[in-house]
Amino acid sequence: MNKLITFEGIEGSGKSTQIRLVAEHLTKMNLPVLITQEPTGTDIGRKIGGILFNSEHHYMCAETEVLLFCAARAQHVREKIMPALKNDKIVLCDRFSDATFAYQGFGRGLNLEFIQIINDYSSLMLKPNLTLLFDLPVEIGLKRAMDRDSLLKDSSFSDRFEREKIDFHNRVREGYLTLHKKEPGRFHLIDAAREVDIIQEEVRRQILTFINR
Ligand SMILES: Nc1ncnc2c1ncn2[C@@H]1O[C@H](COP(=O)(O)OP(=O)(O)OP(=O)(O)O)[C@@H](O)[C@H]1O
Ligand SMILES: [Mg+2]
Repeated sequence: MNKLITFEGIEGSGKSTQIRLVAEHLTKMNLPVLITQEPTGTDIGRKIGGILFNSEHHYMCAETEVLLFCAARAQHVREKIMPALKNDKIVLCDRFSDATFAYQGFGRGLNLEFIQIINDYSSLMLKPNLTLLFDLPVEIGLKRAMDRDSLLKDSSFSDRFEREKIDFHNRVREGYLTLHKKEPGRFHLIDAAREVDIIQEEVRRQILTFINR
């Protein structure tokens, strides 16, 4: 069975922090791991991400947005994810298809059936085997993301998504929770408002249980 494990949740929910820590842990256990992310998991995806996240592109329409994310996914699945799964690697992916439903579907209001079709086409119908959903109030997530960005870059930096209004982020959060309700077997919901180490324990437990199944 494939081992595609995705990390999902709103901005600043701790996905990248947790994926990095658990990848280190699994690597120490001598397990074969690929850690990757969307949309920037390939060279082409990084260029697409440059267009998607540029805050000068505030006028980008939702249709362009969904097509660009799916273009990056098409490349990522074929170039990187599928070959790794075929080599029996555990693929840890920071955002995947669920993000497209949550952001462009529930957040932007695009038709979910259309997203399903374009996503199936882009992803070769590949579905995550386990999805960890990091859930917390958007105010906390956005504050964490803003604090992180001001440490990394100048304090005025924030990408096109972080600049969206709070209502948008609340729709995305609710969208993720709706996806979780539809597929409770695949999703594992994590309370992301807790401390990093406590969350990491739960992440490790979930992933090791899944691998040993
Ligand atoms: N449990 C936590 N408690 C407090 N701060 C945290 C926690 N987890 C992560 N952080 C900090 O919050 C910031 C955002 O975390 P991180 O980058 O992992 O989130 P993310 O979900 O990957 O965000 P994005 O969607 O923007 O990529 C970072 O500065 C990180 O160090
Ligand atoms: Mg991140």
